[in-house]
Amino acid sequence: MHSVSSRSHKRRLPNLRRRLRARSEGQGPVQTISRSRRPHFVHRRVDVVIPSLPDAFDGYRIIHLTDLHFGPAIAYRTVMAGIELTKRLEPDLIVLTGDFVTDRLDDLLPDALNRLTARDGIFAVLGNHDHWTDPEGVRRILVSSGVTELCNNSMCLIRDDQAIWLAGVDSIYLDKQDLCAALADVPFDATTILLAHEPDFGDEAAASGRIALQLSGHAHGGSFQIPGLGIPVLSQLLKHARKYPFGLYRPNGMWLYTSAGIGRGRLPRFNAAPEVTEITLWQRPVEMADPVYVNDPAAVWGSPAPEMAIS
Ligand SMILES: [Fe+2]
Repeated sequence: MHSVSSRSHKRRLPNLRRRLRARSEGQGPVQTISRSRRPHFVHRRVDVVIPSLPDAFDGYRIIHLTDLHFGPAIAYRTVMAGIELTKRLEPDLIVLTGDFVTDRLDDLLPDALNRLTARDGIFAVLGNHDHWTDPEGVRRILVSSGVTELCNNSMCLIRDDQAIWLAGVDSIYLDKQDLCAALADVPFDATTILLAHEPDFGDEAAASGRIALQLSGHAHGGSFQIPGLGIPVLSQLLKHARKYPFGLYRPNGMWLYTSAGIGRGRLPRFNAAPEVTEITLWQRPVEMADPVYVNDPAAVWGSPAPEMAIS
């Protein structure tokens, strides 16, 4: 039985105003905060409570980045600022849930990935755009950047002789997923986190009864959200992201978080901010952290951003 503490968008607003005031007075890890309604990205913090979590993993912090979308329309400054923020947060683990590229390999992708570091490593699955572009090319970049792909397989994270498992399935869009293979080595009573690019796989993952938390991307927060309502519109046109397009869900007792991603595909975003997601695992309920809106990627990154690669 898992539980989670979360707040609705409506309840976040007053707290967000208080947090913005506090941040503007110099508190917190992010230096430059604006009251702009259109932040460059959000540092979104999600606390997930899993009562079966081993003691050694209570408070375990995972940074989830997804949909970097290196390519002709990349939001390069935003992506690099997100990567720099990830480094500063010094997570226990980094997970990347696919769509590293849009439609071509990019020389800047290895440089971006090489900047990432986490105590327990960096793990990834591929997305539909990676497969449509050059999956083996993307895989070569991941290997050279120290990123381990979980392609229908799993690995064990050990701390103080206690373990949780991390599993990954290949792209559902390309019908390359194999959850049975991904869980083949995982003990039935293990606490398991699943990486899957397309979020609507959540129903199948939850039906297995073996996944505590699924992390996904793919929908870019819907690219366009109706102001004030937060409804991700364009995800309804996207295969495998219609049911769970954005935010936290709980299908059949499993937790599922769908990130809006940090990059940009061919479509611009409107009212659907890119995000860096900090997932913290807890054994017991905690007070939910507010998101932090970052409006100046250069300030986070710490140096001028190179020109965006356009071809
Ligand atoms: Fe995708």
